[in-house]
Amino acid sequence: MSVSKIDSLRPDEPESAGRRRFLIAATGVLGAGAAGLFVDVLVQNMNPGKAVAALGAPIDIDVSKVEPGQLIVAEWKKKPVWILHREDWMLKTLSKPGLLERLKDPTSKYNQQPTPAFVNGNYRALKPNIFVAVALCTHAQCIPDYRATPHTVTSWWYGGFHCPCHGSTYDFSARVIEGSPAPMNIPIPPYYWKSSSVVRIGETSADGGHESWTPDIW
Ligand code: FES
Repeated sequence: MSVSKIDSLRPDEPESAGRRRFLIAATGVLGAGAAGLFVDVLVQNMNPGKAVAALGAPIDIDVSKVEPGQLIVAEWKKKPVWILHREDWMLKTLSKPGLLERLKDPTSKYNQQPTPAFVNGNYRALKPNIFVAVALCTHAQCIPDYRATPHTVTSWWYGGFHCPCHGSTYDFSARVIEGSPAPMNIPIPPYYWKSSSVVRIGETSADGGHESWTPDIW
């Protein structure tokens, strides 16, 4: 079993920190333990090699060490995947009228998840507090910044994700906000819970399912 590195970002870190560090990690420039910003042994590839992983083999992530408010980044199908431990106040923002009326696709009607009913509703997650999504802006595939501090983009915005490339803004469920150049919500990959603390990304059950799924827009 090989062990991969993942990136972690605290809510109080400056914008783009997570994006920069994921890119560094992906190119292998930064060694293990550098800057104390990486956390170990949370991603466990259950396949024998990198070539297989690149083709889309599932990955298992133990979320038990992910603190409330913390975001980690894994890699699946050569794409970054967020695992965000949402705090209760973050969940409450997702149904605020001032937000819902500004969303392009509040009910996730586009094919941005494995099935229409996979994670519908405001949480877009199988467990409300643990949010899993492909970390790519649907405009031109930049990696949005995680911003846990409300009102940092606009006075009414409650926090979520902000794309540094052309300014697309998303809520804590990665639903895109009107006025953003991104046309759709950020995709939710196939996943399921193997145990109370381990999530498998890349299929929807122990028997497999949706391994070849792709969204309308990555
Ligand atoms: S790539 Fe995100 S707004 Fe353009």
